[in-house]
Amino acid sequence: MLKITNVTKKFGELTAVNNLSFEVAKGQVFGIAGPNGAGKSTLYNMISGLYSFEGSITFNNQSLGGLPPHKIAKLGISRTFQIPQTFPSLNVEKSIGVGNHFGSKDGFEQKYVDKILEFTNLADKRKAMAGQLNLLDKKMLMIGAALATKPEILMLDEPMAGSNATEIIKLMDLIQHINQDLKVTIIIIEHFMKVLTQLTQELLIIETGTKICCGDPVTTTNDPRVIKCYLGDSRD
Ligand SMILES: Nc1ncnc2c1ncn2[C@@H]1O[C@H](COP(=O)(O)OP(=O)(O)OP(=O)(O)O)[C@@H](O)[C@H]1O
Ligand SMILES: [Mg+2]
Repeated sequence: MLKITNVTKKFGELTAVNNLSFEVAKGQVFGIAGPNGAGKSTLYNMISGLYSFEGSITFNNQSLGGLPPHKIAKLGISRTFQIPQTFPSLNVEKSIGVGNHFGSKDGFEQKYVDKILEFTNLADKRKAMAGQLNLLDKKMLMIGAALATKPEILMLDEPMAGSNATEIIKLMDLIQHINQDLKVTIIIIEHFMKVLTQLTQELLIIETGTKICCGDPVTTTNDPRVIKCYLGDSRD
């Protein structure tokens, strides 16, 4: 479904992503992990059209090279950001409505907005201002707004960051529902290995922009190269 082939991104002297290739299959939850500065967010920025790149990225056999972000969103790729981004002066319902209005091929549908509000557990807070929400609800809203575009692929960038154990369980639950009930393929960048081994079917590890390994999450997290470059003693 999403095919990355020999993709490289340079910022001046720095090679942030180095000749990277992998493929995400339809229906998967696909994980990406690696140390700080490995190039994970840069990868999302290339896939979503924010950064140009060398190499090839195709989605359902269509090349994404040179397409602007709104065209890539319309094709069915949506994402969230590492730092929660919401419209502070819009209420929850309108924030989701904006995504639905501008991103969805089908245009604005109140019924779909209501479904997303239920899905993200925000129905009771539909009139609350986005800026007033707590961190968990802000994250739920950011995921809801990304879902409002009716994506085929949803890319999440460290959705668990800053969350406590209870919040992590809620977010994992939401991600599983999105994958299984809404049939959305998920790519998730995450530092918590337990989250990745529980949620994903395939896990890619990158370090300084280079692929270390890719495969089922249990084998991957036990790979000596991965333990050496990334996990160290902090595996649990
Ligand atoms: N717009 C940019 N201009 C210059 N350098 C950049 C830019 N964006 C990212 N980089 C650099 O590219 C490298 C990869 O950054 P990136 O944000 O993709 O890492 P990451 O794997 O997401 O890290 P983290 O786990 O800390 O979020 C870093 O060295 C970063 O400083
Ligand atoms: Mg990042």
